Amino acid sequence: METVARATWGVAYAGIIPDEVQRRLLDSWYSLQSLSRALATNGSSFFVAESGGEVIGFAQFVRRSSESVELTRIYVLPDRQRSGIGMRLLDAGLAEFREEGLKQVTVQVERDNRNGRRFYERAGFADPRELSHDVQGFGLALVEYRRPILGRLLSGLAMGESPRWHENRLWFSDWGGARDRSRRP
Ligand SMILES: CC(C)(COP(=O)(O)OP(=O)(O)OC[C@H]1O[C@@H](n2cnc3c(N)ncnc32)[C@H](O)[C@@H]1OP(=O)(O)O)[C@@H](O)C(=O)NCCC(=O)NCCS
Repeated sequence: METVARATWGVAYAGIIPDEVQRRLLDSWYSLQSLSRALATNGSSFFVAESGGEVIGFAQFVRRSSESVELTRIYVLPDRQRSGIGMRLLDAGLAEFREEGLKQVTVQVERDNRNGRRFYERAGFADPRELSHDVQGFGLALVEYRRPILGRLLSGLAMGESPRWHENRLWFSDWGGARDRSRRP
């Protein structure tokens, strides 16, 4: 996951987050310790897209209440973008959270990340609300979107059907709490 984030950030955040701040955040958020903590956080689920034994994309969701879950990060390697992997990662989450009875998913994205915002809007996220966060001394302008969990899945799956890959493999694990719900379709 660290490799995917490092390959993706420079392109995605050029002109949005200064290089020096990116380096500091990557070192901090993708250290072994930080990732281990994120994997163990109660209510957090990671979904990982793999191809040929390599991680090519991932998404993390964190349950915020009995009704709501937040998509906290989603990245796909630059040379694998625009081939539907992001939507499948999102679908994997939506299918799982619908089963749990959650109602809404939220996401915060950089206000000036046009490609990221287009992806979310295409995925049915709406009602953008502007906010800002201080990340290690840098004021980051963001928008928060939301969308209901119920509804059509994005990559053409029917609700109730498990997300599946044809050739590439999508696997996902729920690392929160005592339950180990790892499964490999
Ligand atoms: C955003 C991201 C996760 C989407 O994953 P992906 O696998 O590329 O997305 P998909 O192929 O499922 O794209 C679905 C739709 O989203 C939109 N979209 C995705 N990436 C886009 C881009 N770079 N430019 C414009 N639209 C884009 C398109 O409408 C696309 O449909 P289309 O290709 O039929 O036009 C991925 O592009 C990425 O890692 N981007 C950089 C990091 C980032 O911005 N992350 C989100 C903010 S935290």
